Amino acid sequence: MRTTVGIIGAGPAGLLLARLLHNAGIDAVVLESRDRSYVERRQRAGILEQGTVDVLRAAGAGERMDREGLRHDGIELRFDRRRHRVDFPGLTGGRSVTVYAQTEVCKDLIALQLQGGGPLLFEAEALAVEDADTDAPRIRFRHEGREDVLECAYVVGCDGFWGVARKAVPAGLAHVFERTYPFGWLGILADVPPSHDELVYARHDRGFALLSMRSPAVSRLYLQVPDGTDAGTWSDEEIWDELERRFETDDDWRLERGPITQKSVTPMRSYVHEPMRHGRLFLAGDAAHIVPPTGAKGLNLAVGDVVTFARALTHRQETGSPELLDAYSATCLRRVWQAERFSYDMTALLHTAPGATAFEGRLQLARLDRIASSRAAETDLAEAYTGFPFG
Ligand code: FAD
Ligand code: DHB
Repeated sequence: MRTTVGIIGAGPAGLLLARLLHNAGIDAVVLESRDRSYVERRQRAGILEQGTVDVLRAAGAGERMDREGLRHDGIELRFDRRRHRVDFPGLTGGRSVTVYAQTEVCKDLIALQLQGGGPLLFEAEALAVEDADTDAPRIRFRHEGREDVLECAYVVGCDGFWGVARKAVPAGLAHVFERTYPFGWLGILADVPPSHDELVYARHDRGFALLSMRSPAVSRLYLQVPDGTDAGTWSDEEIWDELERRFETDDDWRLERGPITQKSVTPMRSYVHEPMRHGRLFLAGDAAHIVPPTGAKGLNLAVGDVVTFARALTHRQETGSPELLDAYSATCLRRVWQAERFSYDMTALLHTAPGATAFEGRLQLARLDRIASSRAAETDLAEAYTGFPFG
């Protein structure tokens, strides 16, 4: 098999890239190791930056998002039993975010791809990227029990943190920057209307909590738990009790409970692989970088990467100039590091590390108080949360 762009992975990065290339008249093949229903059901991100929404709409993938997505003009910070709302449009010149789940973004992009896009092979596992530093890179993969080779002009590794693409960069040329955290998030889905109409990020001595949503009828909530926690060890009642404690306020706000339909634990990690390109292999999304989820940046970063790649390749095809492809890694990494910084800061601001001292707790409260009382500090948060420009 032969194509111009071989894409490994059908998460948001690979699927959107396939769509952008299709729209630009560039052929591509997507290889995905899992089956369709697994990809469409994997519960992950929920918040789309304004720039991500604009890109999906311009790519022709925004119809259902525009109908069902929930526009949010702010978030609430909760600390010391207080509530503070951050007003995004007022602080950023009109920007907002949209609640529309990653599962739905993937479903929409898969449907478009299968209707009229290029090949998208499920249960096709990439085994290795070969000859990345030549003009004819190849992906060796296994599909329907047979090994095959996809000959490409370019390979884009959109295969997430555990994928194979990154391994094709020789160790001597790669620099990895990494941090792990001694806690994770226990996430639940519950059949109950969200108890607040915007997201609530809560700092509490017992640990962080987040109230989010998937629709007007389905709540998504997260609790900070120790690293390595097994979700099964928390009963539904214990989860609701703990959420209630961490969201407590001095007013009459109440957390509504409902049946929990899913629970799982996500570890937290910061990770950047530099450079994001080796020869004709380009890394995009979680394959190149991970952020802790506190700032809701992961999916949005993946979108930024593939927009940058699609633009650069289109420029190459139209003008013959490789300048944008050559700048790919540096262009992406600037935005990546801003998101790394923001996600790290939000994590440090809101989580209680094991062994944290009372002094550190007071510093967190002072930082939150500063955001609540200084327009400059609040604007900094609002600008980062609603998103940094692509490219
Ligand atoms: P992935 O979604 O990981 O997709 C990679 C794909 O490659 C997968 O389908 C995988 O099966 C496939 N694959 C792997 N190896 C191979 C192989 N060898 N061959 C073929 N295919 C392969 N981000 C946000 O922006 N906002 C949020 O609100 C947010 N919340 C989050 C909450 C949680 C609990 C978690 C876990 C993450 C959250 N994120 C959020 C992060 C976001 O989900 C990820 O950053 C995003 O999924 C990255 O997309 P991707 O396409 O790069 O990688
Ligand atoms: C969600 C996840 C996040 O990481 C976040 O910061 C906000 C919302 C969510 O899954 O809804």
